[in-house]
Amino acid sequence: MRHWLIAAAAAAVIAAPLSAHADPIVMKFSHVVAEKTPKGQAALKFKELAEKYLPGKVKIEVYPNSQLFGDAKEMEALALGDVQFIATSMSKFGKYTKKLEVFDLPFMFKDMDAVERFENSKTGQELLHSMENRNYLGLAYWHNGLAQMSANKPLLMPSDAKGLKFRIQQSDIIAASYETLGANVQKLAFSEVYQALQVGTVNAQENTWSNIFSKKFYEVQSDFTESNDRVIDYMVLVNAKWWKGLPDDIRAGLSKAMKEATAENNVIAGKLNDEARAKIEASGKVKIHKLTAEQHKAWVDSMRPVWEKFKGQIGEDIVKAAVASNGPPTN
Ligand code: SIN
Repeated sequence: MRHWLIAAAAAAVIAAPLSAHADPIVMKFSHVVAEKTPKGQAALKFKELAEKYLPGKVKIEVYPNSQLFGDAKEMEALALGDVQFIATSMSKFGKYTKKLEVFDLPFMFKDMDAVERFENSKTGQELLHSMENRNYLGLAYWHNGLAQMSANKPLLMPSDAKGLKFRIQQSDIIAASYETLGANVQKLAFSEVYQALQVGTVNAQENTWSNIFSKKFYEVQSDFTESNDRVIDYMVLVNAKWWKGLPDDIRAGLSKAMKEATAENNVIAGKLNDEARAKIEASGKVKIHKLTAEQHKAWVDSMRPVWEKFKGQIGEDIVKAAVASNGPPTN
């Protein structure tokens, strides 16, 4: 018996290096949009690359469509370690820092190239750390795109918004942008928008073409205005303590995957929005209005007072850096 036990123990020791492989670390990535959107695709690309660079070491589980956590819970879940990656619209961070509200200022960025320049600038890169005192670290910016307004009537001049009930994200700046036009606002979670538009709790909204298409808002709104009134981009966030506590090789592999997924996202986001816009138009269900130069100027001028109200709390230097990303004035 004794000989048998010794032989079994020896066999186990010899076999151990062959069979002892640790289970991969499971990391959850939660987000609120559909898979066929810039964020949905980027999260899947990040998973693919992370698992390629860290084979057998990490497993990334991606949960789209608020399946795991919706707007109200994802920040808390990250703090508690119930999720490891989120990519949240920067309009939802007002509770944690005022600095990122620079992205919400109406008509701040003339196009997505300007957004890209700002995000890559020294100020933009510093802003990735703007919530570190709350233990949230930004790893990257992911593009979504510029917001387009809609209602059940044409929105051609700012006065057309008067009296409407706009669904907005959790942002005091977006609220002020519409309230200044005499509209009412409701801050609703993204997952609630379609139904709220359908039953009439709200009757207007703003979002990117890919969000509008993938969540079918065009089925419950008749008129879209190509307003490009604000950027809706994302910051990919991790729990700072968790991230810094990861083994070096894991953090390096995840960083490499994040960098490459980000580069790809920022190339395909524009294309996905263009495709979504074309499909909405082809549905024949809605009218898409382009603003004339005069109409566009009227919207810019009427929302502009919001800048004065909020630039102090954002930080004048941050606002200046964002303005500079547009390049020299053209007129
Ligand atoms: C998102 O793109 O993550 C959602 C934005 C919104 O709440 O409108």
